[in-house]
Amino acid sequence: MRRPIIAGNHKMNLLPSQGAKFIKELISQMDNEHPEVIIFPPYTSIVAMKNEIDQKAVEIGAQNIYYEESGAYTGEVAANMVFELGCTWVLCGHSERREIFKEDSHMVNKKIKAAIRNNLKPMLCVGESLEQREQNQTKEVLEEQLKESLKYLSSQELKDLVVAYEPVWAIGTGKTATPQDAQAGVAFIREKLSEIYGESMAKKVRILYGGSVNPENVKNLMSQNDIDGALIGGASLKVDSFIKLVKYHE
Ligand code: PGA
Repeated sequence: MRRPIIAGNHKMNLLPSQGAKFIKELISQMDNEHPEVIIFPPYTSIVAMKNEIDQKAVEIGAQNIYYEESGAYTGEVAANMVFELGCTWVLCGHSERREIFKEDSHMVNKKIKAAIRNNLKPMLCVGESLEQREQNQTKEVLEEQLKESLKYLSSQELKDLVVAYEPVWAIGTGKTATPQDAQAGVAFIREKLSEIYGESMAKKVRILYGGSVNPENVKNLMSQNDIDGALIGGASLKVDSFIKLVKYHE
């Protein structure tokens, strides 16, 4: 059984004090039984958030890392640094990193390796742009991003891997993929993982959908066979809406 994941990507939002308040309120509204809940805050809020978490109700992840262990890389943050702060996850290859900061899958591959070396679980984001979708290149793009990002990694090394299918045209636009389109993308990713790593790995890996997920559409998305969770941006910033996503099954 694949345990569902509800993950919030706070991007460059919320001050440390606001992040701490968010986590405190979120935990106070969570039931004992819940999906795996992960928040990816800005680096500056990691400690403030961790200080509010006394049980394992919520995990904290970094939105990015650099792939070197230490050295003269002004402005960068290494995997072991966020690990020491208590992060258990790291986002790799988010489309905003790919588009705005020009990260390619080769760099994403190095970051995933650095994450694994430092005991962080990688959440790999893949997804096609609107132009690629209109030109019928979705499958090609997803396959290329997956293969390049996971190059030279064994299924043993990828035992904690989570993949998020995030069509770029659906991120922050209010245009969610239909549950059928989201399911098709996620199923394709599982099929490719099965080709590369075998069926047993592909059946275990959790694949999320991301792109304008909100309390209204989450249930339909989560009811699709291959969708194991959601990676949420905008609707994860307020406890009122994020708690509804955490309780999507109600
Ligand atoms: P969104 O962002 O929910 O605001 O579309 C999703 C993401 O970027 O992970």
